[in-house]
Amino acid sequence: AASVIIFGAIAYVLFLNFFPGTGGPAVETGNRLKIPAVLHDYDPSPDSALYEIVVEKGKTAFIDGKEADTLGYNGTYLGPVIRLRRGETVEMNVANELTEFTTVHWHGLIVDGEDDGGPHHGIQPGERWAPVFTVDQGAATLWYHPHLMGNTSDQVYYGLAGLVYIDDEVSDSLGLPDEYGVDDIPLIVQDRSFRSDGSLDYRVNMMGVIPGDTLLVNGGIGQFFDVTTERLRIRILNGSNSENFTFSMSDGSIFHMIASDGGLLEEPYGTDGITLSPGERAEIVADFSGKAGKTVNLLAGNRNVLELRAASDIRDNGAVPERLVEIEEMGSPTGLKVRYFELQSMGISGAINGKTFDMERIDEKVRLNEPEVWIVTNPPGMMQSGGHPFHVHGVQFRILSRDGKLPGPAERGYKDTVFVNTGEEVRILIRFSKVGVFMYHCHILEHEDNGMMGQILVE
Ligand code: C2O
Ligand code: CU
Ligand code: CU
Repeated sequence: AASVIIFGAIAYVLFLNFFPGTGGPAVETGNRLKIPAVLHDYDPSPDSALYEIVVEKGKTAFIDGKEADTLGYNGTYLGPVIRLRRGETVEMNVANELTEFTTVHWHGLIVDGEDDGGPHHGIQPGERWAPVFTVDQGAATLWYHPHLMGNTSDQVYYGLAGLVYIDDEVSDSLGLPDEYGVDDIPLIVQDRSFRSDGSLDYRVNMMGVIPGDTLLVNGGIGQFFDVTTERLRIRILNGSNSENFTFSMSDGSIFHMIASDGGLLEEPYGTDGITLSPGERAEIVADFSGKAGKTVNLLAGNRNVLELRAASDIRDNGAVPERLVEIEEMGSPTGLKVRYFELQSMGISGAINGKTFDMERIDEKVRLNEPEVWIVTNPPGMMQSGGHPFHVHGVQFRILSRDGKLPGPAERGYKDTVFVNTGEEVRILIRFSKVGVFMYHCHILEHEDNGMMGQILVE
């Protein structure tokens, strides 16, 4: 039976290659970087916030003014940045103005299961959802996106995603670049394909996802940013459905990674490249001192992400401190409850521990506030479709080891998503501090939609 499936898949891929129906990579250049709006807080009190989010359909011209059908939050593609502060109480008022079901999930936010926006929190067309929660974690760059059973990949592909920033007293005190849109910029990086009429061309087959030939950055193509400061903080989200990206500077220069998924690292990590799998974030600080008047490109592999044009006169905006934050230890990992998660995939479908997602089934029961060790493996197999970004809701965990070795500096802070390559074993230390039902899944959205997801009840 397997050989029939393989033969069918190969034939199908060949078929698609003969009839690609696509416009090829978009060759726009010279556009100014789109900077997402910051969402307005309707609550005047400093201790609380009220946000209005409308999920809507729209038309977006990505290429040559040709319009594509898209989806957006308070706009036609992607959404505004939601800026939260540690300790504040937040009410999110979400209105679904689509003609289809959706949910809004706060990826990386530590909130009760009922406020998490997973598949149980569907918002019917014309309906609202209004979770209320208190921000209970440190400064970080998180994000939000739909999380409905079976259709997340489409809704994200057509535009539903946005960033959430958390600030706190620690991030205020460090003197890091923090002037939004000036020396602190967000980059949502996504691969997409377009048809020659300018419409989005989302192509999946049973082998997996066909990588997009064009990079969208904050929903734009071929963009530049005018750098006016010696230090530029860039908050990068790999917002792709399935592609990994390795980010570097075209001049090979070293930059400093200062934060991972769940917040600041203890110390900046100087490197010339970082890899992010779908769902992962990194904050980096690039150094333009001595580069006045020069242009450096931020690359993903050998593809251009953003042209960084340093002004002829760039101002000193402070140095990156040598220590950033103290990360509280969860204690020794010995003697803790151990759970195993085996990631299994075949082409576009997948399972975890031999099971595909069932909304009516609780897969794991976890006790509130008790640290555990999770062992996540990705055994090689026929048609196994490569590495999987393993993501857990409602928590930020720490990586204990990758194939028995200590994690590298980029993975020593808080994480909510970890890439587990074929044949690898990753051990994590995890402790839930909120109650309710939470998802764990592969963040390749097509794998998630095809069942590579399970549920935890924390009580
Ligand atoms: Cu980015 Cu289950 O989420
Ligand atoms: Cu999530
Ligand atoms: Cu996967």
